[in-house]
Amino acid sequence: MSTILRRLPPSDATGLRTGARHSLAEVYRPADLVVLGLGVMIGAGIFSVAGEQAHTTAGPGVILSFMIAGIACLLACLCYAELSSTMPTSGSAYTFTYVIFGEVWAWVIGWALILELQFAAAVVARAWAAIAVKAVTNFGVRVPMADSVENILVLVILVLLTGIVALGARIGLRALWIMVSAKLLAIGAVIVVGLAHIDVANFGDFYVPSKTLSVRPQTVMEVFSGQSMAFGWFGIFAAASAIAFAYIGFDIVATSAEESVNAPKSVPKGMIRSLVITTVIYLAVALVMVGMVSYTKITGDAPLSSAFRAVGVDWMVHVIDAGAVLGLTTVILVLIVGQTRVLFSMARDGLIPRGLAAVSRRYHTPSRVTLVIGFIAIVLAEFVPVLTMQELVVLGTLFAFLFVAAGVIVMRRRMPHLERGFRVPLSPLLPALSLVATLWLMLNLRVLTWAWFILWMAFGVLVYLLYGRRHSLLAAPRDTPAEPGRGRHRR
Ligand code: ALA
Repeated sequence: MSTILRRLPPSDATGLRTGARHSLAEVYRPADLVVLGLGVMIGAGIFSVAGEQAHTTAGPGVILSFMIAGIACLLACLCYAELSSTMPTSGSAYTFTYVIFGEVWAWVIGWALILELQFAAAVVARAWAAIAVKAVTNFGVRVPMADSVENILVLVILVLLTGIVALGARIGLRALWIMVSAKLLAIGAVIVVGLAHIDVANFGDFYVPSKTLSVRPQTVMEVFSGQSMAFGWFGIFAAASAIAFAYIGFDIVATSAEESVNAPKSVPKGMIRSLVITTVIYLAVALVMVGMVSYTKITGDAPLSSAFRAVGVDWMVHVIDAGAVLGLTTVILVLIVGQTRVLFSMARDGLIPRGLAAVSRRYHTPSRVTLVIGFIAIVLAEFVPVLTMQELVVLGTLFAFLFVAAGVIVMRRRMPHLERGFRVPLSPLLPALSLVATLWLMLNLRVLTWAWFILWMAFGVLVYLLYGRRHSLLAAPRDTPAEPGRGRHRR
């Protein structure tokens, strides 16, 4: 087999059950996994993307866009559930791909996951700082030199959360439960108060005829079809792509598999349950948002707040601010956790420097790689215009979805006897539908996003050819005694 297509033996990925590769503490109980999913999913997507897409692309039909994105993500989630129940490892899609498709594809997916997790942490940290400043100004307090204050806040939140992750999953978990509960309370208030202010007339123009917007950057689909994707039925479907950002995170639950009690059963359940709860919450929030006020008036950088202001319930702005600050905090926290686990796995396989796979004896976490990730997130959030990169994060995530869906189909054929804690129903039909739905979402992203994505991936392949290919543990004969401290299965 070509070197770059060598595959990780399935026993290395399923070895968790025998303790073969296990060096992290087992901390997540089934309920924790649901909280982890809710913690990372509910964030900027619902607080800002929902309103923005209603205003620019889907109108009140944004409710359907949330449904479409939710269904596409549920299909992907079922595929993640099957693979993570078979290979419960920290690497998630990266490791699945290593076993099923081979090393270079695994690297490509690992590289795409960096785009998802590392960049998303920076994007959300930036958004967090802006919301935190706004929350204060909404109380009528003038914040001098707001830009500098935001920069400081980005630094503070990332240092704090990186520290929490480095010190151990247990500490992060306690904080997570508290913050997720508070965020759900705030969202509950949005739904209850919003329902009381719905005016059905706002649903009157549910279907907004298609428009051609000259200022809107073109998506790949628009270039191919020559058809505008703003509003109309196409708009409703197209908005689902940007809205996919709101669902990012159910896949991150899979990266906690090595630290989960009874992972083959609990991880699929945690992923599916948190996604279903999130979808219901999103549909309810989207419904009250476009029901309270005409979509044409949902504007600005705080669209949900603008809807409440428009109906005269100004105090809700503070509840939304509090929910958003807490909500985005948990998103960043879990994104950092997910990114550490993926890089930890890549380092353990030798594709990035092996020192990054070191596990702290004291805290039982990959603390070294955590510090590196925190540092990179700070640099990105401080010096790169990350808020414009939200779509890129979505594209990286969807790219991994493709491999996971295809992986289910291929693995059923090639490794039918591996023990599966969860099986996608109606396979290969549902994984095939997942592939189609994911491709559709990808094609509705902007041409410019694709250009950046291709550049990023090309750079990644170069890094693999220069480093990973040669340092991969699979490059060394497997029966060669390992160097001290470089053993394959470290405990
Ligand atoms: N789903 C996460 C959010 O909406 C990334 O912030």
